[in-house]
Amino acid sequence: MTRARTAAIAVAGGGVLAAAAAHVWSRHIEIDRFTVREHELRILRPGARPVRILHISDAHLVPDQQRKLSFLRHLETLKPHLVIDTGDNIASAASIPVLADAIDPLLRRPGAFVMGSNDMYAPHPKNPLRYFLSDPRPQGFTGPDREPDLPVGALRSALSAHGWVDLTNTRGSLALTGLQVDLVGVDDPHLERDEFPARAASTREGVASGGAASGEVAADEVSPSGTATDEVATEGAAPGSLRIGVAHAPYQRVLDAFVEDGVDLIFAGHTHGGQLRVPGFGALVTNCDLPRRQARGLSTWRGVPLNVSGGLGASPYSNFRFANPPEATLLTLRSRLP
Ligand SMILES: [Fe+2]
Repeated sequence: MTRARTAAIAVAGGGVLAAAAAHVWSRHIEIDRFTVREHELRILRPGARPVRILHISDAHLVPDQQRKLSFLRHLETLKPHLVIDTGDNIASAASIPVLADAIDPLLRRPGAFVMGSNDMYAPHPKNPLRYFLSDPRPQGFTGPDREPDLPVGALRSALSAHGWVDLTNTRGSLALTGLQVDLVGVDDPHLERDEFPARAASTREGVASGGAASGEVAADEVSPSGTATDEVATEGAAPGSLRIGVAHAPYQRVLDAFVEDGVDLIFAGHTHGGQLRVPGFGALVTNCDLPRRQARGLSTWRGVPLNVSGGLGASPYSNFRFANPPEATLLTLRSRLP
């Protein structure tokens, strides 16, 4: 055997071993390396106390995923003042009661949610190369007559059982002590179900715009329910307010609509952080028209902070992640620097 041929065989063998190792790592190790991504944003009015927002997304839960369930239970220890869930919670109908049990303490905190396509339709095997198409959605994916085959109503009931606000093409509000939170959300843009709700008549000035009055944000106490708007414990002064936009898939048209609506902060999921990332290059795809560099984490869209969750999981038919551990986000809002 020539020296060149020996070298070629060694390189080929090394490549096969590396591919096998990457598969084992992404399928059996990294997929369970749950982490909390933490960011700070200084957008509250001066003097406001910090507000912790937990952002969860894309769990794609299968009932026997014990490590994922343990992590979901662990998130309560972060003691968030507000929880935002941007959808794709489940992979089957049987996941709903299991999910509700795991996040029960979080459901009892103020929160809001939208749903993703995987909350409505059971997953199917997909050719991963489709993600590299300009539109990876199969024919009929967004059809108006496509009936959900998962029990969306049961999931909606479970998520809203203790007061989380359902933001499906609607607005809502909730009150932390001293902080009015105005929310606007849309149904899944990936399914083209987004219908941006009409703007509510409001004259309240936002925290981020610097117009809030002197009500103090008592973020150490939160209201037990996320629906009431009259629980602001501030006498003699208007409370601060915060406007939040929430969507599952961060399509540009929706992000633009949030910006034009005047939100202070946007939350989305769907991208799975690219799911497979190349070290030094980042996400390969976002599965929507969001630029790859914004596939996960905190960035801005037309000057407005945008947090895209890298997600807690993946479809059971492509249950692997590489250079991209599953995550929840803890976003701490603080007062602006003087
Ligand atoms: Fe997802």
